[in-house]
Amino acid sequence: MPTSPLEYIWPGIVAAQAIHAASKLRIAEILDSGPRSAAELAAEAGADASALERLLRALGTLGILALTPDGKFANTPLSEQFSAGHPQSQRDTTLFLPAAFLWRPVGELYESVRTGEPAFPRIFGKSFFEYLDAHPEDATVFNAAMTQGIAFTSPALLAAYDFSRFRCVVDVGGGEGALLREILLATPGLGGILFDLPQTVARAGEVLTGDIAARCRIVGGSFFESVPEGGDLYVLKGVIHDWPDEDAVRILRTTRRATGPAGTLLLIENLVDSADRPVGVMELLMLVIGGRERSTADFRSILGSSGFDIARIIPAGWSSLIECRPV
Ligand SMILES: C[S@@+](CC[C@H](N)C(=O)[O-])C[C@H]1O[C@@H](n2cnc3c(N)ncnc32)[C@H](O)[C@@H]1O
Repeated sequence: MPTSPLEYIWPGIVAAQAIHAASKLRIAEILDSGPRSAAELAAEAGADASALERLLRALGTLGILALTPDGKFANTPLSEQFSAGHPQSQRDTTLFLPAAFLWRPVGELYESVRTGEPAFPRIFGKSFFEYLDAHPEDATVFNAAMTQGIAFTSPALLAAYDFSRFRCVVDVGGGEGALLREILLATPGLGGILFDLPQTVARAGEVLTGDIAARCRIVGGSFFESVPEGGDLYVLKGVIHDWPDEDAVRILRTTRRATGPAGTLLLIENLVDSADRPVGVMELLMLVIGGRERSTADFRSILGSSGFDIARIIPAGWSSLIECRPV
């Protein structure tokens, strides 16, 4: 454990931005083909040579890049993960989390804690998803990071839950379809519906391809208005935590209309009362954008107001599967 608060602040105050800048400049991709001097990297990346050298040296100090004996910079196992081609690539996450549209609200955490109000709408004049709707480039960054995250979370989810007992799964707020793709690949014969905002599902045809494409439908719309009918399992992964209680209940109620009396609802969320899976850092991101992480009791309350009851809770990696039935 750190012995001084400065061990978090220093280098954290700049480390996230240094990684972000290197990722945007595609430094790791360039170094994939071998070490380079700062001047060579600057020419290839399109950056100021002197300033880039300072960034590279800082990343070297952090152990993210290596220095060769002849003064060049080389990838390490850490920086390799910023490369798009790496099998465990984290590139899209390094482009998202330190991006200005998240970094600026995080920088105003103090105000959110003092007032209880999310920083995001105060800074940008819009809610998080209204902002993404108006800023397609940032929406692309966000959606790509969500898609990349599925590669890390889906193995535990698939191992923890038997999807084969269902006929048709509807992934509500399913992003570009990455989770639905993994579920359908792992469950022969299962059909699926991907549901998200029209601008988000626009890319889903590139994700839900081949045999999977024939087994699923892609539907654009808003879950505040309606959710597609016809499924016997409705999955909402990382959706409810984006919203305050009032909106969460609205989403759950439209989903309840679609499930009918016999469908199953599966929320995939982080439970704050799950002691072995701490959610503290995510909790603060949710605080500044306007959502919240919840306890089992919190979920019981919003589900109860929406016509659902918790049937069981299954741990799955860092998340919990909250299986609910209509009441
Ligand atoms: C935090 S992301 C989670 C995405 C995906 N389920 C995952 O776990 O990677 C929340 C999703 O809710 C979607 N969303 C936001 N507002 C929506 C709305 N009004 N109707 C439908 N989807 C919406 C977003 O586009 C986004 O894909």
